[in-house]
Amino acid sequence: MRHLVRMVATLGVILGLTSLFGAVAQAQTPGLIAGSPHDLSGLTTATDEVCVFCHTPHQAQSQSAIEAPLWNKGIPNAATFTTYDSTTIDGTILTLGSVSIACLSCHDGSQAMDVVINAPGSRGVVPTVGAELDALAIGAIGTITGTAGDLGTDLTNDHPIGVQYGGFDPGTGQIDPDFAGGANLQTANINGQDVWWLNTTGGPATRDKNDVILYTRLNGATPEPFVECGSCHDPHQGAGVGTGAGTAVNFMRIANTSSDLCLTCHVK
Ligand code: HEC
Ligand code: HEC
Ligand code: HEC
Ligand code: HEC
Repeated sequence: MRHLVRMVATLGVILGLTSLFGAVAQAQTPGLIAGSPHDLSGLTTATDEVCVFCHTPHQAQSQSAIEAPLWNKGIPNAATFTTYDSTTIDGTILTLGSVSIACLSCHDGSQAMDVVINAPGSRGVVPTVGAELDALAIGAIGTITGTAGDLGTDLTNDHPIGVQYGGFDPGTGQIDPDFAGGANLQTANINGQDVWWLNTTGGPATRDKNDVILYTRLNGATPEPFVECGSCHDPHQGAGVGTGAGTAVNFMRIANTSSDLCLTCHVK
């Protein structure tokens, strides 16, 4: 009996400690970006804002220049990039575009990562190209020692982006059998635009951040699903999936445990 009491007491302490640590962890990371590699606010005293390095509510980059929402940065010239191609690819490859160019406004290593169009506070707008918030403290991504994040402009050694999903046939909605389709491939018409995603989370087939998102691009005149950086990554989920067992990389849509991410698309 006494043994049981002690066990229960020990369990109580363990549970108490667990919830205490849980509470502490939450206090330190109130969002999914704060404290993650995409939280640049810790590198400078110029601002404590987290979103400003990528978004601004006003005076953002024009939507005709970039599809990324309310984008607060100068963007590299898409024509300077070369993406992966091979003799066994059967999907159409378009020039770099869509949301991928937003990632590359830091990950190509060409400009300082604190370049913003609309600096925090009154005034401070430098249209289109932007200006640095703290030139002394924050440089281009290549200045971070040992980073694998400096992809450069030669993307031929990276997974294809700007590539049509599974040789999609717009007439039938069919895709090649070596890619996931059927009930896994969801589609909807939202505000007059056709969108596609791969349902990874089960449950109701609504599109959410842990689904693998396909990006709608015009192939000729036809809107079709394409793979971009944001298909596999969600730039906001720094403290979310991907930090657990099986992978130590942040910003994944789903963890790549047992190659689950790859197998969401590839039937292999
Ligand atoms: C490192 C750059 C970066 C930071 C920092 C960042 N975002 Fe984003 N955000 C993006 C990109 C890129 C997209 C487009 C992603 C896509 O299309 O899937 C996006 C999309 C969004 C969207 C629309 C799509 C979605 O996923 O919901 C919202 C809303 C958003 N961001 C809000 C925020 C807020 C609020 C913050 C600060 C707490 C923030 N973002 C910080 C890069 C960033
Ligand atoms: C404002 C600049 C900026 C933008 C824009 C940006 N990133 Fe990053 N990203 C960084 C920095 C800084 C790091 C940390 C690099 C390091 O420490 O090696 C990083 C790291 C990462 C990592 C590795 C995380 C890890 O745990 O090692 C991934 C994955 C990533 N970014 C994906 C993206 C994607 C996808 C986009 C676009 C949707 C994007 N990033 C946009 C600055 C940016
Ligand atoms: C088809 C899926 C896919 C696409 C598309 C993709 N990535 Fe990744 N990325 C991954 C996976 C999986 C990892 C984790 C690799 C690992 O565990 O080393 C990763 C890792 C990274 C890292 C961290 C590298 C490291 O080893 O530390 C960065 C930075 C990154 N991706 C940026 C990008 C950017 C920018 C794009 C678009 C130009 C992109 N990714 C497109 C799947 C993808
Ligand atoms: C969002 C869907 C998606 C995800 C997730 C994905 N891929 Fe792909 N992958 C594609 C598409 C589409 C192509 C282009 C294939 C084609 O058109 O023949 C491709 C191409 C490739 C190729 C080149 C094939 C060739 O013929 O040259 C390899 C290898 C590959 N992927 C491996 C991976 C691995 C490994 C992962 C996981 C880290 C992964 N992919 C995740 C969609 C995806």
